[in-house]
Amino acid sequence: MGARTCNEKPDPFGNAPKNNKNILLSRELKSIIMNVAIIGAGSLGQSIAKGLLTSETLTALYMTKRNLEALKGFDADARVNLTSDNILAIKNVDVIIFAIQPRHFEGILNAIKSDLKPSHVLISVITGFAISRIEAIVSKENYVIRAMPNTAASVGQSMTCISTNEKGKEKVELAKSIFNNMGRSMIIPEEQLQAATVICASGIAFWMRLIRATTQGAIQLGFEAHEAHELAMQTCFGAATLLKESGNHPEEEIDRVTTPSGCTIEGLNEMEHQGLSSSLIKGINASFEKINQIKTK
Ligand SMILES: NC(=O)c1ccc[n+]([C@@H]2O[C@H](COP(=O)([O-])OP(=O)(O)OC[C@H]3O[C@@H](n4cnc5c(N)ncnc54)[C@H](OP(=O)(O)O)[C@@H]3O)[C@@H](O)[C@H]2O)c1
Repeated sequence: MGARTCNEKPDPFGNAPKNNKNILLSRELKSIIMNVAIIGAGSLGQSIAKGLLTSETLTALYMTKRNLEALKGFDADARVNLTSDNILAIKNVDVIIFAIQPRHFEGILNAIKSDLKPSHVLISVITGFAISRIEAIVSKENYVIRAMPNTAASVGQSMTCISTNEKGKEKVELAKSIFNNMGRSMIIPEEQLQAATVICASGIAFWMRLIRATTQGAIQLGFEAHEAHELAMQTCFGAATLLKESGNHPEEEIDRVTTPSGCTIEGLNEMEHQGLSSSLIKGINASFEKINQIKTK
């Protein structure tokens, strides 16, 4: 599918027109009522659960894993059911989110497929497991959706990319409503999901390293470690928020803080002489090459 839509706000880099019909307000999305099962409520599954539980339209949430110990506490919410029985879970829901490791997916799909209903919406967050492979186990007539969230889902700030099979296009707004509960989402063609994984899922690590480097610089300038960390984090958050709120291009915001012959441009140019932008771009490309090698194994 070629359509590309993003929730709530205009594209942060100004690419999407503000009156784009594809931009759906979260108000509209919140009207969808859901019963959901998360098969494999591990690290990501629990983050997704936390996001879903903030939604008033969620009526029931089944969370499955073999060892339920780690899920204690979730069932304090009356809508939550904890079970190791995947079939029991899917019998009671409309939407099934698969968050198991890739090596477990085929076996679990085969085990539940005779209990699937045509109305079930199947959402996989599993890395590198193509829609065509899912269709081969279930069918092209099932609603199949792939989503790639990141770990910021646990704090409601994931950037989630979503692709669907042909049938799944009918349920794409439902998928967006689920992932918009834990951040923002964008519909992209499946061919771009690997690239999106690098930018958004690996991207969390890239940004962490930039924040850590800033912290190290701040300590060298005399701040205590905890102060340096706070300064770096909040400045990074402020920079991203400036772009999101203003819709400006980053270079416009850079122009606002670079006095001619001043300290900011001095530092920025030195960083570029040392290869800042180039090393980031090369790193992103190296990750992309690697993820494509992993995919073909
Ligand atoms: N973490 C991320 O940032 C991220 C981002 C995007 C996509 N993903 C993808 O999301 C998937 C999950 O990642 P994760 O980090 O959350 O992994 P994880 O913590 O290992 O979670 C997977 C869970 O599946 C459960 N499980 C295994 N067999 C099961 C079965 N037969 N029935 C029900 N549950 C079962 C495991 O619990 P038990 O052993 O107790 O059953 C485990 O808690 C992976 O495919 C990953 O590629 C992760």
